Amino acid sequence: MKITRNTKIKDVLSTPSGHDIIARVLYAAGLDENLLKGILGNFTIGGIKRLTLGKIGDSFIDSLLEMLNSETETVPYDDCEIKKEWWKEAVFYEIYPRSFKDSNNDGIGDIPGIIEKLDYLKDLGVDALWIAPFYDSPNADNGYDIRDYKKVMEEFGTMKDIDKLFNEAHKRNIKVIIDLVMNHTSDEHEWFIKSKNNDPKYKDFYIWKKSENIPNNWTSLFSGPAWKYYDERKEWALHLFAEKQIDLNWENPEVRKNMQDVATFWLEKGADGFRIDVISFISKADGLPDGDETLGSLIAFTGIEHYFHGPHLDEYLNEFNDKVFNKYNAYTVGECPGNGVMMSKLITGDDRNELTQVFSFDHIDNPGHVRIFKYNFDIRKMIPELVRWQTQYSNHCWPTVFFDNHDNPRMVSKVVKDGPYLKEAAKMLATIQFTLKGTPYMYQGCEIGMPNTDFTSIDEFKDVESLNAYKEMLNRGFSKEKSFSNILWGSRDHARTPVNWSDDIYGGFSTHEPWIKTNQSYKEINVESQLSDKDSVLNYTKDLIHYRKAHKSLIYGSFRQLKANRNFFVYEREDDEKYLIIINLTDKTRKYPVKPQGELIKSNYTETSDKLRPYEANIYKIS
Ligand code: GLC
Ligand code: CA
Repeated sequence: MKITRNTKIKDVLSTPSGHDIIARVLYAAGLDENLLKGILGNFTIGGIKRLTLGKIGDSFIDSLLEMLNSETETVPYDDCEIKKEWWKEAVFYEIYPRSFKDSNNDGIGDIPGIIEKLDYLKDLGVDALWIAPFYDSPNADNGYDIRDYKKVMEEFGTMKDIDKLFNEAHKRNIKVIIDLVMNHTSDEHEWFIKSKNNDPKYKDFYIWKKSENIPNNWTSLFSGPAWKYYDERKEWALHLFAEKQIDLNWENPEVRKNMQDVATFWLEKGADGFRIDVISFISKADGLPDGDETLGSLIAFTGIEHYFHGPHLDEYLNEFNDKVFNKYNAYTVGECPGNGVMMSKLITGDDRNELTQVFSFDHIDNPGHVRIFKYNFDIRKMIPELVRWQTQYSNHCWPTVFFDNHDNPRMVSKVVKDGPYLKEAAKMLATIQFTLKGTPYMYQGCEIGMPNTDFTSIDEFKDVESLNAYKEMLNRGFSKEKSFSNILWGSRDHARTPVNWSDDIYGGFSTHEPWIKTNQSYKEINVESQLSDKDSVLNYTKDLIHYRKAHKSLIYGSFRQLKANRNFFVYEREDDEKYLIIINLTDKTRKYPVKPQGELIKSNYTETSDKLRPYEANIYKIS
């Protein structure tokens, strides 16, 4: 179907990209996609201009049409029985090695530090680890800029340490997935150095453009233009991220072969699979056309519509499976910013031969907002997005459920801001995470409810994204105060301060001053004290995890949201057993929106009450 200005919206919705893009545009405008099921579905694409009250222009409609016509594959999934798989039942835990545990007291977390804590993780109920990059890197982006894929970063340890980590984890029945960064390499990678110097073998390993002016208007996700000029070749190289992270040219079969070789190397060593960094960005639109500013800003950045689910993505993933993943039965979870629930079906459907699961991020920030600009986050706005994945993703696919990772400020702090109830809110988030359908991905420190860090000056930030964004804000004429308050609100560094292990100096992470500020909360909020406190976030989380493992209806049961106003999240999970979950999403005491039923098996408050208290989260077993 060729989509034109005259195509009705309801007809466009039948294609995955049509659905997700239109839903995204409405979402960003604060409207709900259900609107389209009624009369509005009869509007034409051209009519969207009127729907959004003229906020968008003709060039937007043109770009939208181009985008809608670029991926018209359909996945007509009927629901089926859920296939049982280890990764649907597993609890994953992300480790950011630099900040997890420092074993040799040089201020930098390391691989032996992870090994030290495996028993702790096992006891918590963790079944699988995702280890963020530990490869040789000049650290422009803390290891996401890889210089040598087959070498371990010296600060983190040796290849022997990695072998030991795999072994020790496997002994405890914990799987290990590692970070595969294949969209780009460091500019210090041997391939890039050779490519830059016109070595015929590597000449086309990256995306080079000869052009007098900057080749297009794409912006880097880390501020500024996405192109850097190299005198050596008198050409521009594309970098969607930092200047030192250069995008590989996936159209070159040699690049794909080399990346397949890297993945094979690690699977042979014993990795159980991969978290794949920005995998959805690897294929770029032919001719690298300019991006539409409005459309880009609705999805994230200028130009992103030309690569967030590029023309050859499905093909490259199929090939990678045939050549590598399938041979090892490897588990894969892809980071796919911008892909909504339907496009993600194309990536994770069980007949698609692409990826096992994806991370999508639309729930992490409120509609119409991006991380680095301060706004008044409202957790109530997250619920419709979570529900969308619970109800529309089909049993051919399986969601991931997460609120935190190394790229976001701590969700618990976004929820309570400076207010009280940090502990209640942390337990509430855990309740949601372990009772929704999908694979829970925890992030280090969440299990104790670690909050954001009280950075007081821009010099305390380390992250390239924060530092670049700060500079750009000043350049755009923002005051220092305003720029700082944006960074303080949205910086990824909040998640990157060391884990609070105890109330010792530097939170027991190290005896040496850590590479980044220590979280101010370590005296009150730390693993050691929480282990012995029955009522701690840690013990609450642990109980929930173990309860979930023993009651598979919380894993495989159907999901049904019950009617309640937006201050609540109320849902049932059901197959052999039936559960009712009632959540108060606000910091106010409120009347129960539905009558509790059955036995209260878990609550973030110790005493019962006839009203729901701030962030109260209750799980009832009905049968
Ligand atoms: C992903 C990583 C992030 C990194 C970026 C570039 O988003 O999670 O930390 O900066 O990719 O590799
Ligand atoms: Ca160390």
